Amino acid sequence: MDKLLYTGKAKEMWQTADPDVLRVVYLDQATALNGKRKEHFAGKGKAANAISSLVFRYLMDHGVATHFIKKLSANEDLVKKCQMFPLEFVTRNVVAGHFATRYGLKEGAVLANPVEETFFKSDDLDDPFINESATVALKIASHQDLMQMWNVCRKVNDLLRPLFAKAGMQLVDFKLEFGRLSNGEIVLADEFSPDNCRLWDTATNHHMDKDVYRRKIADLTQTYDEVLARLQAVIKEE
Ligand code: C5P
Repeated sequence: MDKLLYTGKAKEMWQTADPDVLRVVYLDQATALNGKRKEHFAGKGKAANAISSLVFRYLMDHGVATHFIKKLSANEDLVKKCQMFPLEFVTRNVVAGHFATRYGLKEGAVLANPVEETFFKSDDLDDPFINESATVALKIASHQDLMQMWNVCRKVNDLLRPLFAKAGMQLVDFKLEFGRLSNGEIVLADEFSPDNCRLWDTATNHHMDKDVYRRKIADLTQTYDEVLARLQAVIKEE
């Protein structure tokens, strides 16, 4: 019998009989304001899992090491167990969200270079910004670990920006998380879905990500299904 290890905002993590393998269950729910707002969306777990599995497979096919093993069912995956770094790596290509509010900018301008920001994962502290020297001083990660993880973020951006563009979506920003396997290897973990990135329709600039829920714009599951259909179409073509 699998044992529930952790319930997150949109996923559950279960320990399987194999100590190195976890089962992830994508839930039919979305949260905003760091979990303070929560709602049920039928079919959302299935759509987010389908998108994330597709993206992780695409990244692995292009040389990115991840925790992903395989899709188990519509809303479940098997992943390699890792020790997560309590860090969020945000890459921004376009001004949006907190970058816009923090610096008093209008959303929408393409940034001259991708902006890289690291946050310390803590619900109690609302995920504060953290810089490299603090991360190292607090022994959260070494300089070398950070360099390695940021290099993967750059590679992911270089792979996914054109992929989403081909699917008619602008990859505005995204958040990645990493973990360390029992053999010491650092791998991309967590997920890549419209829960943790911003996608804007290239033709209309309409939001196609969790902002439709955060800002009460459109139906979340329908939006995610559209992202999935577009991604499937371009990945099939490759
Ligand atoms: O809110 P902010 O503008 O900083 O978000 C930047 C990107 O990181 C967005 O794509 C957002 O969905 C993602 N993010 C996330 N989890 C967080 C914070 C941000 O997935 N805790």
